[in-house]
Amino acid sequence: MNDLPDRLRELLLDTGYTIDGVRERLGTVAATALAREETVPALRATRDGDPLATLIRLWWLGVPIEAPGWLPVDGLAAAGLVTSAGGLVTSTVHLQPWETGGYVVSDRKVRPGDPALREDHVVGAGGASANLAQLVSRRPVGRALDLGTGCGVQVLHLAGRAGEVVATDVNPRALELAQLSWALSGIEGVDARRGSLFDPVEGERFDLVVSNPPFVISPRGRFTYRESGFEADGFCRDLVRLAPRFLSPGGTCQLLANWLHVDGEDWRDRVGGWLAGTGCDGWVVQRDVQDPAEYAELWLRDAAEQGTPRYRELYDDWLAWFESMDVTGIGFGWISLHDSGSLDPVVRVEELGQRVELPVGEYVDEVLASIGATHRLTGEELLGARLEVAEGVLEERSGPPGAEDPATIVLRQTRGLRRSARVGTVEAALAGVCDGDYPLDPLLAAIAELTGEDAGVLRARAPEVLRPLLAEGFFHISTS
Ligand SMILES: C[S@@+](CC[C@H](N)C(=O)[O-])C[C@H]1O[C@@H](n2cnc3c(N)ncnc32)[C@H](O)[C@@H]1O
Repeated sequence: MNDLPDRLRELLLDTGYTIDGVRERLGTVAATALAREETVPALRATRDGDPLATLIRLWWLGVPIEAPGWLPVDGLAAAGLVTSAGGLVTSTVHLQPWETGGYVVSDRKVRPGDPALREDHVVGAGGASANLAQLVSRRPVGRALDLGTGCGVQVLHLAGRAGEVVATDVNPRALELAQLSWALSGIEGVDARRGSLFDPVEGERFDLVVSNPPFVISPRGRFTYRESGFEADGFCRDLVRLAPRFLSPGGTCQLLANWLHVDGEDWRDRVGGWLAGTGCDGWVVQRDVQDPAEYAELWLRDAAEQGTPRYRELYDDWLAWFESMDVTGIGFGWISLHDSGSLDPVVRVEELGQRVELPVGEYVDEVLASIGATHRLTGEELLGARLEVAEGVLEERSGPPGAEDPATIVLRQTRGLRRSARVGTVEAALAGVCDGDYPLDPLLAAIAELTGEDAGVLRARAPEVLRPLLAEGFFHISTS
């Protein structure tokens, strides 16, 4: 039984039950239909009864299969992965290959018409899991914590980058399935602990804390996999407020979160307020906003509750509860905290709607560093600094045909967060000459001479206009 994970992993790989194998076998039409919860095309694509089709039916589609001789059914049944009766094998879990090359074990996603979700449902790895994994810093770390590990997917991404990993969850069933995920992925030594929020790690410190928390904001905590039972967006707030106590010097905490938009309150103040007083530099990004109806529908659909007798009642309840709090929308986004050790920390709160270069984790440390360093740079230090325009920044000029000067100049990042900024002629000229060789001051003097502008005025204005461009990564300070 103990060598079952190794044997099963070997079987899965030999059969081609991998991300690419499943994708290729299903084809685009069936895969896209599955994303809409429609299984018929996938069932048609797996009619042949060969080993890969059989495993896709068993563990991806959740269809009972006739017991094939090559599947170690007794061992799998003993490990709680299948049940077997009358020659038919039925999966008790969803076992999916994951992009790291490992495997993730969870409960199966419910589809319309399925029995209601169990309260201790363990959610599978999906879009949100991938979003967090993409956001998390790639920097190698000593100790890492995955808070709310669920099926254990974040650990698959941390393994190899962290010397030691602690993973926690309130749901004991989540920890059981996570341990299966890690065993099937060949990951050893994860310290799995049960408990709420930071309770299981009281008094400890981590270089990296990651969490895809139970962020769903609902009137009642009905499902542990997505709702904490805390009031409104209080779980994410408390996670952010408590995190710094568990960070080692220089440590980072990164999480996904939802927050309320309340009539008469700027959401930036609400979420910015969670980070104020943490002593950490912070970066809050709102990626999307939904109105209350869209939000309630999304999560009722997620639990396959549309079309059930309670749907209208649950929907109405959810909306009435939002209305009682004057909620106008719900924001989705990322929160990153960095313990920079500075006595003058800064929190940047912003909306980013555009597609960004993935994975953000490749450059998130740089983003946090730019935000912090720019905030703490004095005007004199800035004027003495050697700036470099960031790689991939383009300049776009537009205006009426034949005009001598452009009406607008835009600097556009083709890399990273792909921001754009409308700038004046001086910043545009600086973008053309800043290659890290000369301090800003003499460059400004040269630009003043060329353009006929007053050098003193340019100098006085420079920190104000350049600070946002530095914080947003259009320029870097050269350290070479
Ligand atoms: C959205 S799932 C995330 C699972 C996984 N980490 C991922 O990235 O897909 C949230 C997890 O938080 C757990 N959870 C719920 N309440 C919690 C609490 N108070 N403290 C810690 N974890 C909690 C749930 O059991 C669930 O496994």
